[in-house]
Amino acid sequence: MNLFGGEQRMVATLDDTKRSAIGMKLANMKAVQQLLIDNEQLFLRESNDSEVSDRLRKMLEDDQKNMGILDTVVVQYGVQSQPEQTVTQMVETVQNLMQGSELNLYEKVFQHELLKHQQVMTGLTIHKAAQKVGADVMMAIGPLNTINFENRAHQEQLKGILEVLGVRELTGQDADQGIWARVQDAMAALSGVFGSVTTQNSDKSDMNIQDLIRMDHAKVNTLFTQLLATNDSQKIQEYFGQIYKDLLVHSIAEEKVVYPAVRPYYGEDNTQELYDEQAQLRVLLDEIKALSPSSPVFKDKIKKVMDEVGDHIRQEESTMFATIRNNFSSEQSEQMATKFKAAKSEEQVKMAK
Ligand SMILES: [Fe+2]
Ligand SMILES: [Fe+2]
Repeated sequence: MNLFGGEQRMVATLDDTKRSAIGMKLANMKAVQQLLIDNEQLFLRESNDSEVSDRLRKMLEDDQKNMGILDTVVVQYGVQSQPEQTVTQMVETVQNLMQGSELNLYEKVFQHELLKHQQVMTGLTIHKAAQKVGADVMMAIGPLNTINFENRAHQEQLKGILEVLGVRELTGQDADQGIWARVQDAMAALSGVFGSVTTQNSDKSDMNIQDLIRMDHAKVNTLFTQLLATNDSQKIQEYFGQIYKDLLVHSIAEEKVVYPAVRPYYGEDNTQELYDEQAQLRVLLDEIKALSPSSPVFKDKIKKVMDEVGDHIRQEESTMFATIRNNFSSEQSEQMATKFKAAKSEEQVKMAK
């Protein structure tokens, strides 16, 4: 974090307040997502209505898949954070309520629906905030659209479940089955609203290593473009901070996971070249980090980094990717992607401390 404040901040920190605040909201979402999953598992144990259980089971599957997508979003976003204390406390309170016996199933599902609402609103707010912060943030959090849409659809399902449980509690009789038709109609109306955005975002949980690396390369190119397009030194500082962190994390993860794996097939010289270029790149980044963003040489140095990164990326995406395609199965490439994502996450957590 930044200890200096005022003008000195310009040279001293890579952190940006807006970006950190969004990182915290994403961490809140992860904490609430885990609570949603725990609750649904608990409801499945308590439910004795097969229609309700089927709907809960599908919701749980979506939520587990969405937890994976959220993880990817946080790593692509590039700013790791702890959830806010108020959220951690709220999660604990709800957990105790859910595990206790003072609430019946209707009341527990009622609380759950409120949580879903909270999750939808946090997701939509992050999406709107990202539009203000930058194209790189929009790119990183793109898959949130799918999660927001599904959570919104889950709210409709939960309303139906609440009606079924509530009628049974009050009358001892089964509710009118027309409830489910109404739920389906509400969901169909929602997919009209969200449909165009969600179809663009495929499920990011089974990407191969080439997809992940390509996403990082695209993001850093977007950041370079944004930086070069502005003369606002605050914005330059903000974009540089993200470029610095993203390139550092990306290069370390490649050196930990990808380069050692491809070395036997890609050849000693080619692989060593990639290591050397990244070492040189990190020196350049540190040189720029020591400059003030309003310095006249700042952008020239950025252009130099951009050129070197461009050459490096072209080599990776052409010959290195071909080596991966020719020597690794799709399962191996997906496993490498999982390790790459974990290595990035680990570096980001270290950096946040
Ligand atoms: Fe790369
Ligand atoms: Fe690289």
